[in-house]
Amino acid sequence: MKMLERDDEFALLRGLLAECRKGLGSATTITGAVASGKTELLHAFSAEVAGGGVPVLSALASSAERTLPLGVVGQLFNHASLPKSRRDHMARLFTAMQRGSGPPDQWTVNERARVMNVLWSELLLLAERGPMLITVDDVHYADAFSMRCLLYFIHRLRDAPVLMLLTKRERPQRVHPLIDADLLRLRHCHLVKLGPLGVPSVAALAAGHVPADEIDRFAGDCHEVSGGNPLLIHALLDDRRAAPAGAAGHLVVGQAYRHAVLATVHRGGRTELRVARGLAVLGDLRAPGLLEELLRVDTMAVEQAVAGLVAAGVLAHGGFRHPAGRSAVLGDMDLSHRAELRSRLARLRRGRGGKARAGSPAAGHGRGRHTAPRNAGPGATDPGAEPGGAELSGAERRVAALAAEGLMNREIAERLAITVSTVEQHLTKIYRKLEIDGRAGLAKAFAAHSDLVPGGDRPEPVVGSGPVWPPAGWAQTGLASSHTGG
Ligand SMILES: Nc1ncnc2c1ncn2[C@@H]1O[C@H](COP(=O)(O)OP(=O)(O)OP(=O)(O)O)[C@@H](O)[C@H]1O
Ligand SMILES: [Mg+2]
Repeated sequence: MKMLERDDEFALLRGLLAECRKGLGSATTITGAVASGKTELLHAFSAEVAGGGVPVLSALASSAERTLPLGVVGQLFNHASLPKSRRDHMARLFTAMQRGSGPPDQWTVNERARVMNVLWSELLLLAERGPMLITVDDVHYADAFSMRCLLYFIHRLRDAPVLMLLTKRERPQRVHPLIDADLLRLRHCHLVKLGPLGVPSVAALAAGHVPADEIDRFAGDCHEVSGGNPLLIHALLDDRRAAPAGAAGHLVVGQAYRHAVLATVHRGGRTELRVARGLAVLGDLRAPGLLEELLRVDTMAVEQAVAGLVAAGVLAHGGFRHPAGRSAVLGDMDLSHRAELRSRLARLRRGRGGKARAGSPAAGHGRGRHTAPRNAGPGATDPGAEPGGAELSGAERRVAALAAEGLMNREIAERLAITVSTVEQHLTKIYRKLEIDGRAGLAKAFAAHSDLVPGGDRPEPVVGSGPVWPPAGWAQTGLASSHTGG
């Protein structure tokens, strides 16, 4: 697999390995949003190091084993790459420790210190002949005692030929009491934060799969829908490959993308999953505090989950980046749960009926207004926006018509010779005026109201736009949703 935009991180890690060869150890935490490529970087660097003859001990922490005492440390010292005699020795040691003092959660401070010291001595013995790499993937799931051991080792790494590499899920606005607070203050500890991939990287990944003259457009659209999350980018490339010939450079949002959105949401954690489901039912975050009320979750937790899902490329502009993401999450829900949320939402909306209208100027100043993601666009809270029910302007009708047909914001901008940001602003107003949740609602609105269909200023069909723009007769029928896109 082609790994992109990680040259700086590799350079840093290689430099730290060179230091380690001189006996100066260090620890590096790789952090980032869900599916930002933490494990990929950890594995790629480990493979390079192992290829150079340096022993690597690795462990993977998981939520399922979080309560297993010594789980992660046990994985390290029972690593398959160690000689059997050493593994047997460690197994005897672990058994003796537990026999002597009971399970680790019952050990006294002195017993814990003694055990950690024994394990550190073992580690030094293993690293006696040269540098050694220790990796722990998803360290935020490590059991409490293993976490303490890792910290104990890290405090002593500076004078040992041991390099430690950890990956940790980034929790927006939340720190891990042990890992973050302690590690970041030590001079031999480093933090590598992985961001989303950029448009040129999408283009590089698409090379060979999309015709050369279509790559720029494809990469722009793919980036817009994926937010630069490599898992979603790969999924969109898979969808593109599975599409029938003739899709040219167009983005195809299909089954692979839906699966990848679900994988991202599930990997994110319980609150992220709950918030994604609530938002899928709700549609967007325009109504302040409504998602919290719907889910009965506090504002801070919702904000953090939303921020995590924005960073993971699933949400943007106060809703799902693409309607297919929303429908995937809805489809993944238990029918009874979905029905329950829907009826609770209807009750909440009825209850709010007499109060400020959702998304109206007055409503924009209340509690929860800040739940809109930072790059809020269409669908986000905008206190200055028109109330629902107002008439669309000519420009808004033109943008709405193209969006209802399924064109991406970039395509709409190109078609109408305006900027993407103007398109987003128009869409914000359109959704609010039509009182709909997003693009899916637009097609229905067009079918229901022939007055929304632009007349004399009807846009020209996009030449060769294949699946996204089948223009024949759309204005006559007003049934934008009837176009399947071949
Ligand atoms: N730099 C990159 N270039 C291209 N593809 C990448 C890159 N980094 C990761 N990927 C791909 O993206 C997907 C997600 O990567 P990975 O599983 O490493 O993410 P992660 O951050 O460890 O996710 P999680 O938060 O669930 O642990 C994988 O399919 C991986 O191959
Ligand atoms: Mg991972």
